[in-house]
Amino acid sequence: MAVIEVERLRKHYPGFHGGTLALDRVDFEVPEGGVFGFLGPNGAGKTTTIRCLLDLIRPSAGECRVLGTKSRGSISTVIDQIGAIVETPAFFPRFTAQRNLDLLAGLYGMGRREVRGALERVGLAGREKDLVRGYSLGMKQRLGLAAALLKDPKVLILDEPAHGLDPAGITEVRGLLRQLGDEGRTVFLSSHLLAEVQAICDKVAILSRGRCVAQGTVREVLGRGRTTGVLVRVSDIPKAMQILDAGGFDVSEADDAITVTADPARSSEITQALATNELYVQEIRPLQVTLEEVFLELTADDRDEAWLQEPPKSNDD
Ligand SMILES: Nc1ncnc2c1ncn2[C@@H]1O[C@H](COP(=O)(O)OP(=O)(O)OP(=O)(O)O)[C@@H](O)[C@H]1O
Ligand SMILES: [Mg+2]
Repeated sequence: MAVIEVERLRKHYPGFHGGTLALDRVDFEVPEGGVFGFLGPNGAGKTTTIRCLLDLIRPSAGECRVLGTKSRGSISTVIDQIGAIVETPAFFPRFTAQRNLDLLAGLYGMGRREVRGALERVGLAGREKDLVRGYSLGMKQRLGLAAALLKDPKVLILDEPAHGLDPAGITEVRGLLRQLGDEGRTVFLSSHLLAEVQAICDKVAILSRGRCVAQGTVREVLGRGRTTGVLVRVSDIPKAMQILDAGGFDVSEADDAITVTADPARSSEITQALATNELYVQEIRPLQVTLEEVFLELTADDRDEAWLQEPPKSNDD
């Protein structure tokens, strides 16, 4: 069973000039266990989707389910199995972190032991006696994560969990989220930090202008990038370029090497063509496509000037 199911989800916010169509028939599924990355540029609709998942707002059409339960109207029946952070989590600023978590723990029927465990997991042990007012943004994010973990949730729904964290904090939280996913929990996170997502997520969905433009394993999504190529290093670059060009390859020179725009599966043809002409390859490897490159390619429409000036009118179903 998919832990999160989103089906033809639409959300139209009313307003001037026809309002905003924030989600336009979004479809995706999050399987049980592991880390799922939900990516998209600013305004793509990530937070709107998460709000629909948690029944904080009402979709205009379509449906979402968490743990097999329809979000709209019924999320309360499964909410004790869901830990969530939507945007910056709110705490009582004049209370200590400990007191804030104790209050929540009381609400969930948990005790001091769970609070201690949550503080340790997020790296806040030792700072629990500080007032939340004096917490940095990164510390508040961690406290939010601690609060989400108190319930020992099956599912974690996190909107930008790395927001405000320094590089060391990002690495730490990344390790924690990966661990939670490996424990069999389902971690669903929205993010802009593509390198981080590529490093920890098993699957991703990419949202652009309210539409899901790609989803699948990180590997599958990387495969959607058009920029497949092979890097070749030889001693005589001009000669090698000539040979490959004559062999029908699309070549260009880059940093003391040659880039061949071709499926890496054709590497043996490249080495053969060069070897026949007594040029021996020093290095040959597929060019790594990053999630960032694929993301920029797939969300290019988002940066259209026309789009910035004139959002599309909604056409309600
Ligand atoms: N309450 C609201 N009323 C009107 N429009 C809204 C509202 N909330 C969001 N929007 C619009 O809906 C679109 C999607 O916004 P959303 O916050 O879901 O994007 P996001 O992907 O979370 O962006 P970000 O990366 O900046 O957090 C945007 O165009 C936004 O301006
Ligand atoms: Mg958002």
